[in-house]
Amino acid sequence: MTDKTITRRELIATTAKVAAVAATVGPAVAQTAKPAGTLVRPVAVSSMNGLAAVKVAVEKMAAGVPPVDAAVAGVALPEADPDDVTVGYGGLPNEEGVVQLDAAVMDGGTMRAGAVAALERIKHPAQVALDVMRRTNRVLLVGEGALRFARTHGFVEENLLTDRSRKIWLYWKENASQRDDWLPDPREVDDPDIQWFIKKYGDAILRPSGTIHLSACGPGGQLGCCTTTSGLAFKIPGRVGDSPLIGCGLYCDGEVGSAGGTGHGESNIVSVGAHTVVEFMRQGKTPEAACLAALERVVRNTKLDYLRDEKGRPKNNLLLYAVSHAGEVGSAAIWSGERVKYAMCRAGSEPQLLDSAYLFHRDKA
Ligand code: GLY
Repeated sequence: MTDKTITRRELIATTAKVAAVAATVGPAVAQTAKPAGTLVRPVAVSSMNGLAAVKVAVEKMAAGVPPVDAAVAGVALPEADPDDVTVGYGGLPNEEGVVQLDAAVMDGGTMRAGAVAALERIKHPAQVALDVMRRTNRVLLVGEGALRFARTHGFVEENLLTDRSRKIWLYWKENASQRDDWLPDPREVDDPDIQWFIKKYGDAILRPSGTIHLSACGPGGQLGCCTTTSGLAFKIPGRVGDSPLIGCGLYCDGEVGSAGGTGHGESNIVSVGAHTVVEFMRQGKTPEAACLAALERVVRNTKLDYLRDEKGRPKNNLLLYAVSHAGEVGSAAIWSGERVKYAMCRAGSEPQLLDSAYLFHRDKA
């Protein structure tokens, strides 16, 4: 018997352990959100930081721009916005203070995709991902290779670390441990930039993994999507999250629907979240029901103690967003909270923020 061989007794023990885990976690009672209006297309859905982005995407699609290009045009707003510290310019850096961006695009009509990961010094990684999709026969470029590719295509290099993001990074670095050489300055916490960050994200959650995902559905049901991010704040240099991984941070199938996620990237990677949502829609679930079903799988797949609370539920939140070929939209999260919403815009209407459905209620966001 090799080390890897599992005896029948071990198998039964493992099965019993998994069943015990399921019993500890308990069945999630999904809280569904209200239906999101009639099915006028084009329509775009995104994470809550995409209220302006979904409007741009819908306007572009109404003018004849393909959904994937419209999605990239929409997310260019948060990519350029220094007040969104989870995306593009002003994004929170890695643990060495370097901003490394991940992005991907997918076109449902052709099933082509493009992505870049750990890209430095380029403000609009989603536009580089679009060029990877259209100007190469590959899907994913990383690091120095991605930067050289961007340079080749005329993208301009710039410093993406704003003074605010530098201060937030330094605050994290100085307060992360008492066993290193870095001492916090007690006056630091009163700095308006630090106060701004704490108000927005909470002191306890010092490492936001915000992102923008945008799924777009054109007038005839054509589909495209994009996800772009600075990734988990203060990550290990070179860490790549779910956002640029096709099937995880985004996926679309022109005959079914489009989906993507924001939040704890590693949880989304191991459950291949976006692809799972699209497959549930293929089986006939609404976008919201598909997101909830995919998140139930994420909960079942969260088996490591350090990722689970005392009741066996995932500690981290993950949000999924989806639009169907017919133009239905929906979103769901593992946990409820003030920031558990999504942005949606339909042709002829103003963009709106809607409540996402969720599996577990959290008293405080
Ligand atoms: N979901 C973004 C990240 O984990 O990088």
